[in-house]
Amino acid sequence: MTVADTTEVLAADAGGIARAAALLADGRLVALPTETVYGLGGDATDGAAVAAIFAAKDRPRFNPLIVHVHDADAARALARFDTAAERLADAFWPGPLTLVLPVRDGAGLSDLVTAGLPTVAIRVPEHPVARAILNAARRPVAAPSANRSGRISPTTAAHVLDGLSGRIAAVVDAGPCGVGVESTIVRTGPKPALLRPGGLPAEAVEACLGHPLAQPDPGAEGVSAPGQLASHYAPEAAVRLDAVTAEPGEVHLGFGPVAGDLSLSASGDLTEAAANLFAHLRRLDARGAGRIAVAPIPDRGLGRAINDRLRRAAAPRGSGASALG
Ligand code: TXA
Ligand code: MG
Repeated sequence: MTVADTTEVLAADAGGIARAAALLADGRLVALPTETVYGLGGDATDGAAVAAIFAAKDRPRFNPLIVHVHDADAARALARFDTAAERLADAFWPGPLTLVLPVRDGAGLSDLVTAGLPTVAIRVPEHPVARAILNAARRPVAAPSANRSGRISPTTAAHVLDGLSGRIAAVVDAGPCGVGVESTIVRTGPKPALLRPGGLPAEAVEACLGHPLAQPDPGAEGVSAPGQLASHYAPEAAVRLDAVTAEPGEVHLGFGPVAGDLSLSASGDLTEAAANLFAHLRRLDARGAGRIAVAPIPDRGLGRAINDRLRRAAAPRGSGASALG
């Protein structure tokens, strides 16, 4: 895990912005001010950095994260925009609107950012300090709210330090956030839907589109409430958990002392294992075996997140709702 003994408090000036960008480029975690809440930023293309975000937050599940970019052109490099998405981006970016869009092939985002979904949530923040950091970092930045899981979102640098001091490399202190609630999340496509009410009133979105937003359909949508995924990443193959040895016809995903055909982390490092999880499952799945046997993973820290995803992958198929833990 990318931890720091002491968390640097950076001023929101040229020096602080340059330092924040350099830390992000180095795979470290930096809490940054946005107009909504302080975000816990990490390089969205770096699986280990994204895994470290989950570890720092003590987040037990791999919810998909919002990717922050400097401008709409940077967003278009990551995702495909339809007419409605173009209109909304034109009207409300930069600002507290997140668009859920089909991810482009080769976008280069870590699988952990999208939690294996074919879509990605993207936002262009308005806060001048966030914009300056994104401009200097020259990479997409994944950033959930900079709080420990289950706690209230932070709107000052002091709030961030309350929960994350010693767990992240730095926080950039730009004073209190202007908006104070998270961004509004809209999924575009044929029937644009409101996935999360937030800092941009839904009415403004509807006025821009010229029609009401749909309510998300939990089954088809994959998201029943903010942070709640009804559908989960599951490989083609069946999944068997807590497997110390493989049975005939199985490929074996190892961890620690259990070598397997491919190991999540030979040294038993849960952060490394989390960063490898989706890619390794895909790789084993591509071998075409009927079942993937998975070594026992300790149920602590990121291991809880890994086991949560593995349990979803192992749950009876076609039971998305009941697979919700
Ligand atoms: O205001 C905000 O949006 C803050 C600041 C820091 O920018 N960020 C924030 O990010 O709230 P985060 O990562 O906590 O938001 C994640 C939520 C998920 O719980 C889910 O509701 C939604 O974004 N989300 C992300 N990716 C999605 C996807 N592919 N499909 C549907 N919903 C998605
Ligand atoms: Mg949050």
